[in-house]
Amino acid sequence: MKLIGKKALVTGSNQGIGQAIALRLAEEGADVVIDYVTHPDTAAETVQRAQKFGRRAVAVEGDISKVADTQRMVRESVEALGGLDILVNNAGVEKYAPFWEVTEPDYDLVLNINLKGAFFATQAFVRHRMEVKQPGKVINVSSVHEELPFPHFTSYCASKGGMKMVMRNLSIELAPFGITVNNIAPGAIETPINTALLHDPVKLNALLENIPLKRLGNTSDVAGVAAFLASPDADYITGATFVVDGGLTWNYSEQ
Ligand code: BGC
Repeated sequence: MKLIGKKALVTGSNQGIGQAIALRLAEEGADVVIDYVTHPDTAAETVQRAQKFGRRAVAVEGDISKVADTQRMVRESVEALGGLDILVNNAGVEKYAPFWEVTEPDYDLVLNINLKGAFFATQAFVRHRMEVKQPGKVINVSSVHEELPFPHFTSYCASKGGMKMVMRNLSIELAPFGITVNNIAPGAIETPINTALLHDPVKLNALLENIPLKRLGNTSDVAGVAAFLASPDADYITGATFVVDGGLTWNYSEQ
């Protein structure tokens, strides 16, 4: 149990990768805040599951695309747990559309949640850590698409590429305060974000062909890396991206 005494906020943690991360951090000993926007029932259920590990867990409603919400969310987390050492920027969405059909509302939705949300949640977290003069860890859940093109998902790639550069900048700017910043870049993981793909056998098989380990990832594949990055074992790591993709990123071949 490497996270005893630590307190973590995971955005978008009532489902998918965020939920698995929150539960894994609790299993390792951390108290956790489950952030959600919709489905308070799944947030409450996640809280109960985290409490079964003997940890404190609370749910906080917060739409990270709104700066005021990110600030309130961090304040409420600090109040509920008596501090906050770890922030996991996980909440994210994607919208499929050919480039020439992308609408302004869809563009704003993706960028405001994935990039602006993580940006200002991190700012609120950093201000808290500076106030209490303590180190901290920021872990962003980005995507292999912080690096790899993903045609028809250009707004998503813009948000994840942006997240990569925010992470690299902050790793330098926040190092003097003992705050580390790293990204986890999942590939194709079985989560609600790709429900459509999971139900399309043709697309799914084409994707599996490109994954050297020949399976989609599980949320626990990602959660394990988050638990490591949140732990003291990762104290000397900052400014890095950890790819969790079964080999997808580098699998180019001509047959
Ligand atoms: C996307 C998924 C996609 C995967 C691999 C993820 O970031 O959210 O929709 O299947 O990357 O391309």
